[in-house]
Amino acid sequence: MSGEYQKTYDFSINEPELFWGEAAQGIQWYRKPTRVMDSTRAPFYRWFPDGELNTCYNALDWHVEQGRGDQLALIYDSPVTNTVQRFTYRELLEKVALFAGVLKANGVGKGDRVIIYMPVIPATAIAMLACARIGAIHSVVFGGFAPHELAIRIDDAKPRLVLSASCGIEIDRVIEYKPLLDKAIEMAVHKPEGCIIFQREQVTATLVPGRDQNWEEAVCAAQPADCVPVQSTDPLYILYTSGTTGMPKGVVRDNGGNAVALKWSMKNVYDIEPGEVFWGASDLGWVVGHSYIVYGPLIHGCTTILYEGKPVGTPDAGAFWRVISEHGVKALFTAPTSFRAIKREDPEGLLAKKYDLSRFKYLYLAGERLDTDTYHWASDLLKIPVVDHWWQTETGWPVASNCMGLEVLPIKPGSPTKPVPGYKVSIVDGYGNEVPPGQEGLVVIGLPLPPGTMSTLWQQDQKCLDSYFVQFPGRYLTGDGGFIDSDGYLYVMGRVDDVINVAGHRLSTGAMEEVVAMHPDVAECAVIGVADEFKGQLPLGFVVLKAGVQRDSKELVEELSQMIREQIGAVASFKQALIVKRLPKTRSGKILRGVMRKVADDAPYTVPSTIDDPGTLDEIGESLTELGYAKHHHH
Ligand code: COA
Ligand code: AMP
Repeated sequence: MSGEYQKTYDFSINEPELFWGEAAQGIQWYRKPTRVMDSTRAPFYRWFPDGELNTCYNALDWHVEQGRGDQLALIYDSPVTNTVQRFTYRELLEKVALFAGVLKANGVGKGDRVIIYMPVIPATAIAMLACARIGAIHSVVFGGFAPHELAIRIDDAKPRLVLSASCGIEIDRVIEYKPLLDKAIEMAVHKPEGCIIFQREQVTATLVPGRDQNWEEAVCAAQPADCVPVQSTDPLYILYTSGTTGMPKGVVRDNGGNAVALKWSMKNVYDIEPGEVFWGASDLGWVVGHSYIVYGPLIHGCTTILYEGKPVGTPDAGAFWRVISEHGVKALFTAPTSFRAIKREDPEGLLAKKYDLSRFKYLYLAGERLDTDTYHWASDLLKIPVVDHWWQTETGWPVASNCMGLEVLPIKPGSPTKPVPGYKVSIVDGYGNEVPPGQEGLVVIGLPLPPGTMSTLWQQDQKCLDSYFVQFPGRYLTGDGGFIDSDGYLYVMGRVDDVINVAGHRLSTGAMEEVVAMHPDVAECAVIGVADEFKGQLPLGFVVLKAGVQRDSKELVEELSQMIREQIGAVASFKQALIVKRLPKTRSGKILRGVMRKVADDAPYTVPSTIDDPGTLDEIGESLTELGYAKHHHH
């Protein structure tokens, strides 16, 4: 309906308590909240503070009680194992209740943490929901992270149990998880009481006696456990995300706000009705997996797809079309990089024509900037709305989108359209002053952030304040730069901090610098993200060697690349580095990473007045040109 977006948006901003109080009616509560928002600890707003609910109840039991037990809840489609497995709501509920019983039998209760380090298989989703069922706090760690990263998360979350599987499968490569887990526990100071290991057919993991249990055996011995009511404000999960240093941020999401916001977004942002098929083609280790593979679709009573495969190579660039047609997917959510991968292998989109895509209505893309080429390619091929939308692990659900369930606004390629109801997005300069339309600045969100957004960083309120709220009082700092045009459309241009986005994976260049700096020949280093046609961004290292050290650059890059794989993980895709004589710095010794990035990407830049020696930038530009970057660099 015309005007519906603006009307809804204005209502959400002018009357947030009325707006979200209404949205909360979509959720089943043990105790209905009498208050919508508590601002006594602002900027830590608490939503539905006296409400009591259970997220797993809303995701499963409620639908079964409403007579929809035989509807499909989850379809596991795994081209890497040649498996398709279907679970009705009743079946999924049974499995989750039993696994919740396993957790309980292991002493896990309300507020206890459980780390889940697993591939994209049903057991992972079952484990998440089982935690929610008994009020335990899960923290899923992406399977592509190396032991060191897992160890950091174990030490921060201090889990009672760690859940894992014998392996993950990368196209045709079996990645054994158990040795990685064992190593991580060895490295961690905090030792979990036990591990429960899901044995997959491809590999049988060796269990540590007295510590590890076999998943299936534990399930066989278990009694189903019931839902435990929790406070709306109790944490549902911690999800670690890359910050600017090697120490990731433990984003905490509460139960009540999450359920209300996700339910609202399924209908109003994604235009999905209960019973329809929604596919979030991502990993359960990322926020998309939490919000739009597990909780959003299930709370809304949809059928969700759990896909263990890639857009290409499993077996070909038609994989997405096969899944869409086979399972009647109405909306697909993925990262632009997936579409660039498909486009690269099947530029004419011939494989799409082999499948019946008549039920496919929306393509949602997020996780990185959607380049206009990819937008046009997908849009021309599919002839359905291709919706660029912008959000972050911290927000948990979209901040800016064309809200398909409210009103279809004209699409402007390159823009995720307008702020979603609940979010007061603006652009400010370094002093916090709003800039005029069209002018680039920092993207900030006025407080309060709506329900479902981060409640804090795990046991680090101060770090949360310092990272997001201190610079501009009353506003949340997103870490992204961009502008708003004269029609109110938002354009997000990229991070302004040391976070980069590689093939839709959020990574920290600071963490990579810490690893590179450990190399015995490296005196000093900087890692920046540079534009890449396929992955969006790729890390690029600059190293200054210790005095007197001579190294062959190819060999050194190989060693650094290996170190990053071992310390952070293969997803970092660290494959290029330059040996330079010195790094461009300010007079106070700060490395000018932002300017280096602009030089590499051929973006306009001004030489900062604080630079110690402008000659260093020219040297960097010359080295970059040799590597194929900074093609237009002029002295
Ligand atoms: N476990 C172990 N290793 C993993 C992994 C996992 N879960 N995920 C990725 N890796 C490895 C890959 O095998 C690859 O290893 P290699 O360097 O030895 O080949 C490396 O990490 C880099 O992976 P990736 O950057 O994902 O590149 P790719 O070429 O394997 O795949 C895409 C490219 C586009 C298919 C893939 O990046 C993708 O699907 N991205 C979307 C990410 C996403 O969904 N983000 C969430 C926002 S929607
Ligand atoms: P993550 O927390 O992993 O979801 O990554 C969040 C970051 O990804 C954001 O801060 C942005 O830099 C980037 N991002 C996500 N979606 C978009 C989008 N639609 N357009 C531009 N950047 C995006």
